Amino acid sequence: MEFSELIAARYSVRAYRPDPVEADKLQAVLAAAQLAPTAANRQPFQLVVMHTAGREAEIGQIYRRPWFVQAPLVIAVCAISSQAWVRESDRFNARLIDAAIVADHLILAATNLGLGTCWIAAFNVEAARRVLRLPTEAEPVIFTPLGYPADQPGPKIRKTVEELVRYEHW
Ligand SMILES: Cc1cc2nc3c(=O)[nH]c(=O)nc-3n(C[C@H](O)[C@H](O)[C@H](O)COP(=O)(O)O)c2cc1C
Repeated sequence: MEFSELIAARYSVRAYRPDPVEADKLQAVLAAAQLAPTAANRQPFQLVVMHTAGREAEIGQIYRRPWFVQAPLVIAVCAISSQAWVRESDRFNARLIDAAIVADHLILAATNLGLGTCWIAAFNVEAARRVLRLPTEAEPVIFTPLGYPADQPGPKIRKTVEELVRYEHW
């Protein structure tokens, strides 16, 4: 897909078909995540790929919407704070920016392959830590189901460019 088509095609998919995701498509999506830029190239993240089949009740504790476990796969983007670049002037830690770029690469690559995704931040952190068996240093940042959409995109409701952009100064 051409880039402007791709970013217009991506939407939050909240219903999935049970069809499996082909192994080569999963690998392509993961490779897109691997290529994401990160601050100082620290790559302070880990992806956890989970198959939902037979684990719906367990994985469903992470985010209690039936569609969360409808897709064959759920992917978590986790950040590792101690591996991330830290800005010297104010100790700002870039892990969440890095994790978001990784998620965006993954999600756009999935869209390009006809797969559906949905950014999910409103998950239960405690359940996520337990189900993923996360070590203390790993922080769950974003989840997404990965599978074929069973719904249709709605209208894109956005502020106008004029509302969002200022020039030269605030
Ligand atoms: C950081 C982030 C967190 C989000 N968390 C959730 C979520 O927990 N649950 C959900 O249903 N959608 C979530 N969304 C999806 C947004 O609601 C959605 O992207 C927005 O309404 C625009 O719709 P679109 O993705 O279809 O273009 C999240 C999106 C982002 C970027």
